[in-house]
Amino acid sequence: MPNPNQGSVAIYPGSFDPITYGHLDLIERGSRLFNRLIVAILSNDAKEPLFSVTERREMLAQSVKAYPNVEVDSFNGLLVDYASQRGATALLRGIRAISDYEYELQMALMNRRLRPDIETVFLMAGEAYSFVSSRLVKQVIGLGGNISGLVPPLVEARLRDRLLGEKQAR
Ligand code: PNS
Repeated sequence: MPNPNQGSVAIYPGSFDPITYGHLDLIERGSRLFNRLIVAILSNDAKEPLFSVTERREMLAQSVKAYPNVEVDSFNGLLVDYASQRGATALLRGIRAISDYEYELQMALMNRRLRPDIETVFLMAGEAYSFVSSRLVKQVIGLGGNISGLVPPLVEARLRDRLLGEKQAR
């Protein structure tokens, strides 16, 4: 039987400031659903990010090395325009809790209105990571809390370096 997803390309967009194991769980599962998955960092973000786009790209690239069909990129402007330029037919997003739903629904419907040919595909966040967000991880480590097991070790080292001024040999 032919694979209906053959040649399918999806974009997993976000701020990824920084990547967490919650994101990685979604990337792993998304890489099994689509032939190619492009993890795309929004670079003209109004939010003031902790890490530059280059730093976020580096951390993502290191973290997705195990998935040959996953690529890391960054984009400006409208997500659906970028998706169409990259030949993608789907946008991948994760939903952790009901509180994510309203924001995600709004974005998905706006994106559908802009480009009806691009579908948003939602995956439920892995239950082990449903409370994990980049924002909380930054807050916790900045206040001296333990975040091991929530972000890859290389990301934890970068966070310690940036927020606590701890330089580590890497
Ligand atoms: O990780 P985030 O911050 O929740 O990701 C939000 C993101 C990057 C997916 C969203 O802000 C986005 O798509 N921005 C691009 C601008 C755009 O296309 N806006 C209209 C769609 S609602």
